[in-house]
Amino acid sequence: MKIAITGAAGQISYALIPLLLERFKFPIELSLIDLEEKVGQLRGLEMEIEDFCFPQVKNVASGSDEKTLFKGADVAIFLGAKPRGPGMERGDLITTNAATFYRQGKILADVANPNVKAIVVGNPANTNALMLIRGGEYRLKNQIQALMRLDQNRAKSALNLAAKQREEVFVFGNHSPTIFVHEATSEVTEFVRKRGAEVIKARGVSSQASAAKAIVDHLEDWMSKDERRYSAALYSEKNPYGVDEDLVFSFPYSNKKGILKLPLSQQEKEMLLITEDEMKKERKIACTILFSN
Ligand code: LMR
Repeated sequence: MKIAITGAAGQISYALIPLLLERFKFPIELSLIDLEEKVGQLRGLEMEIEDFCFPQVKNVASGSDEKTLFKGADVAIFLGAKPRGPGMERGDLITTNAATFYRQGKILADVANPNVKAIVVGNPANTNALMLIRGGEYRLKNQIQALMRLDQNRAKSALNLAAKQREEVFVFGNHSPTIFVHEATSEVTEFVRKRGAEVIKARGVSSQASAAKAIVDHLEDWMSKDERRYSAALYSEKNPYGVDEDLVFSFPYSNKKGILKLPLSQQEKEMLLITEDEMKKERKIACTILFSN
């Protein structure tokens, strides 16, 4: 299986690759992509991957040539995006990231395995994923998801800490402070909404190890032969919640059955509209930037 990773010289990637190789034991080829000025660092990462000595790693390639490195990819993990610093919101990043994802969406749809599974992590993840879909002229609309598993893991951890363990926890909407946790108290939803910013405030950089763990959790569930139910941001066409049909929106999802329809309380229906509205605004900004010249 060929796995392409963008932003591969960054710190999420550095945490992700050993976790990924500890979890997935099938034959793997890695394709590490980053900006031209980071190619030297990628070579260092390649050396460390060789030194891991994982027997399932059949090949490692790296560089900045996206057309070559996405070619034949079965899985694509999009980490590369301008990251959020202290005091910034995801929306602040749209201007920088929309064009990058739109460009990469065309390349991915042109050269990757037509059945590629792509997961977007770089923020604003949902809108970046939509730009990836649009860049590829919707050819991969059902194969591109944005990472919500970090929010789901945070919700589950908050419930565990409050001694209210649940087997299944789902999050709805945008990976942003408008997200909400299904059937949870406002304290749990607030915890999830603020956690990313709190980590940034404490560390000076955004979550890396927990994001890496969430990516591996997400991929494992998405690729599983058994049914797995988890939160994923998906192309919203024909969703059963009445959400605008051209967004990448987090829903409860089954890798075998698609979007799951769960009952929502009146308050949850109101929160759904708020997070949907935020995503529509992000889409409008991204499209204005892309199509204004
Ligand atoms: C997170 O949730 O920790 C990351 O997406 C970082 C961010 O910008 O919030």
